[in-house]
Amino acid sequence: MERPPIDLSSDEFRRLGHQIIDLLADQLAGVRDAPVRRVLPDEVRDRLLNTRLNDAPASPGALIEQVKNDILPYPLGNQSPRFFGWVNSPPAPFGVLAELLAAAHDAPAVNSDIAAYFVEMAVIRWMRTLFRFPATTGGLLTSGGSVANLIGLAAMRHMMSQGNMRRLGMTAEPARMVIYTSMQGHSCIQKAAELLGFGDEHLRRIPVDSQYRMDVAALRQAVERDRANGLRPVAVVASAGTVNSGAIDPLDAIADVCADEALWLHVDGAYGGFGILSPEAAPHYKGIERVDSLAIDPHKWLYAPIEAGCVLVRDGDLLRSAFGVAPSYLQHDSPYPWLSEFGIQQTRGFKALKVWMTLQQVGLQGYRDLISADIAHAKALQAKIQARPDFALIAAGPLSITCFRYQLPGMTDEAALDALNKALLKRMNASGKAFMTSTELKGRFVLRACIVNFRTTDADLDALLDAAAEAGKEVKS
Ligand SMILES: Cc1ncc(COP(=O)(O)O)c(C=O)c1O
Repeated sequence: MERPPIDLSSDEFRRLGHQIIDLLADQLAGVRDAPVRRVLPDEVRDRLLNTRLNDAPASPGALIEQVKNDILPYPLGNQSPRFFGWVNSPPAPFGVLAELLAAAHDAPAVNSDIAAYFVEMAVIRWMRTLFRFPATTGGLLTSGGSVANLIGLAAMRHMMSQGNMRRLGMTAEPARMVIYTSMQGHSCIQKAAELLGFGDEHLRRIPVDSQYRMDVAALRQAVERDRANGLRPVAVVASAGTVNSGAIDPLDAIADVCADEALWLHVDGAYGGFGILSPEAAPHYKGIERVDSLAIDPHKWLYAPIEAGCVLVRDGDLLRSAFGVAPSYLQHDSPYPWLSEFGIQQTRGFKALKVWMTLQQVGLQGYRDLISADIAHAKALQAKIQARPDFALIAAGPLSITCFRYQLPGMTDEAALDALNKALLKRMNASGKAFMTSTELKGRFVLRACIVNFRTTDADLDALLDAAAEAGKEVKS
């Protein structure tokens, strides 16, 4: 019988698989010396955009060739040691192989009588142990930090509801609920507040101190003011590593406020949560063991290939009571509840495998060393910036983000400096020598270098500053 084109023979599968692995291994071998990024040519963009879907099957070999020529040469750049943008780490190579295994295994990580379920349970147990959460903790791997924050806050909404949230939604709440985050809180908290029906109007942005950490006195005042106005404060979302500067809010003091005011404490640790593994940074996390829910992102500082986020909720039963629905077609007699009862998705990818395999391959001490090295590189970058006359250090939290500006002595016109740094960044990024992104602090445009990269060395820090200074000189002349 003729095999349908979708079904490869095992020989073909092996041959194509080897071809793909060879391609990726060659790319890995060249990653240090390749430009960080290449500009995507218009003709390649148009070719991808206008790819025709034909009635006839295409040859797998030709498709691999197209990926080789049109896709692989134009990545974000996060594999490179000189990529300092956003919070995008390179994937651990072993994690990439694990992803292939997970795809081939294709188990929906939901049913509780298959191996994939117990792999995810083990990962959740490791995560809760890392953050000193109790055995009652429930959790789930998610697509990323945004969804982890959303799920944590959905559990909070369920818990804090005075009506019947699941049946009647917000309409039965006797008072409007208010959430607090800092002015440096991530945009996904706003999305969660909007999606969950609180509305952006009821998400307070608390001012920050000189180090961009939530001002706890201002938090107390805001809670008091809202209560006086008949609103109902329900939760604080603190940051364990803000995306702009890597600031860690004073978690212990905020936990005190939450205890005094009967508020839920959620922590967004999507970028910085795993900084707790660095002995030097660990003291900043004091109080994290007191929080009600936590979002962390293995696809950032654990170097898991995208996508892998994680939510932990101290009271695991609560997570189930916020999300559990078991229609008749999903009834089972396993003592273990299906994972669909703890979150949004029914069918779920086997994200846990890459985290489970990579964590063990690297080991806890390996991660302590890697994360400590990233933080040490950030400190070294800050020292280099301070030692040079052509840069000014603007902000640096305790983790691995550095905000700075190209600023020659005597240059004081802030608007002109904003424009100069904007132009510099564009030129440097186009050069392929290094890649960085930007943000705004106190209304000013700043260059922002984030180091979540096991390949970055001290020489790459010099390469970044040299490339930035060169671009600065070019755009100034
Ligand atoms: C502090 C913080 N929170 C949340 C997120 C969102 O996480 P994700 O992009 O995985 O959805 C990010 C992403 O960079 C982040 O840095």
